[in-house]
Amino acid sequence: MALAEFLAELDQLQADAQGAFQAAGDAESLEAARIEFLGAKSGRLKAVQKGLGAIGKDDKPAAGKHFNEVKQAIDAAFEAAIARIVPFHAEGRTVSSGAAALSVAKSMQARGTSQSSGQGTLTVDPTLPGWVKNSPNGARLENKLRLGHLHPITQTIEDLKEIMGRLGFTVAEGPEIEDERHNFEALNIPAEHPARDPLENFYLSTAQALAKSAGHVTIAGEPPLLLRSQTSTVQIRVMETTPPPVRIISLGRVYRPDTADATHYPMFHQIEGLLVDRQVTMADLKSVLRLFASSFFGGDVHIRFRPSFFPFTEPSVEVDMSWNDRWIEMGGAGMVDPHVLKAVGYDPEEVTGFAFGLGVERVCARRHQVTDIREFYKNDVRFLEQF
Ligand code: FA5
Repeated sequence: MALAEFLAELDQLQADAQGAFQAAGDAESLEAARIEFLGAKSGRLKAVQKGLGAIGKDDKPAAGKHFNEVKQAIDAAFEAAIARIVPFHAEGRTVSSGAAALSVAKSMQARGTSQSSGQGTLTVDPTLPGWVKNSPNGARLENKLRLGHLHPITQTIEDLKEIMGRLGFTVAEGPEIEDERHNFEALNIPAEHPARDPLENFYLSTAQALAKSAGHVTIAGEPPLLLRSQTSTVQIRVMETTPPPVRIISLGRVYRPDTADATHYPMFHQIEGLLVDRQVTMADLKSVLRLFASSFFGGDVHIRFRPSFFPFTEPSVEVDMSWNDRWIEMGGAGMVDPHVLKAVGYDPEEVTGFAFGLGVERVCARRHQVTDIREFYKNDVRFLEQF
């Protein structure tokens, strides 16, 4: 596709989206507009993003830059519409994300208990005590509310974002359901690599993936999808749409059919880091990981780097942390392989980069001296309320 055509398509999309968000008068119509333009599966922004793949290599940086500008403008129009329609959100409290604000507004509408009288004033008095009951003699007793708190893994994720944010890394997100290009191919993981065995992954249709790996014809037009097995997928998604330099982290769930034990779980979380710029070296990678470890665990932690192999980094290392006189593997890391840079349209003669992927359960366990990560998922309140 020609660059000019792609840019014009983006501008038209921006104008349409801004018009629709401005015209939305209630939560229902705003939600309909959100699905039309920002829907994760078949939203119009998503459809235009697919066109990026058809842009020539030389034009890709300009196309990616404009795509990001248009996406930001559409997001801003959506946020402005939420602030207009959902009063709590406008005050910047109680509800923290656009989607959450919308669902609050919709459920209030459904229950017929709108928090707003129609003129934007609150009919709930937030200064009243949360829970009051009468004593046997009729006096009012105020019970202390039992407050919950964030799960230790969520707390860890927030801490990791904060520490890496101080080092200039911004947060990027990627989908948990992935295609083989982002989970394997663009990461230089060839078809015959053992990590691609359908039985080593959670394919959405194992039968189809097995047929493909055996060289049989699969159902036309349905590429196999799987639950991502690593957050390295987000490296590709970010580089495909952003010209260098990039400095991002991505945190989220990943899935592998591993047997649960003290250090493994079939669903776990990773933090991925990616920095690409001119003259980035292995020394930068080691400094960032050492800084991260001393900020997160405290100054006296020891970490070590062991030579290793990942298809998407060269050279590659495993990163271990010391704990109770043993070394525990914390994650993998390395310099981004030139093949990967080329696959996303970067010039490996101009830029280099490092990447790392750490296990969130493991660093959380080490920090709180939890010796078995399965504890995090038993949902035993006696365990969880200690954090
Ligand atoms: C990877 O997943 C690579 N994507 C890491 C990477 C990123 C390398 C960027 C180079 C550049 P690995 O399979 O070793 O590597 O997993 C990384 C970390 O995830 C492990 O060190 C461990 O801390 C954690 N991990 C792996 N499997 C599990 C599991 N089943 N349960 C809990 N944590 C796990």
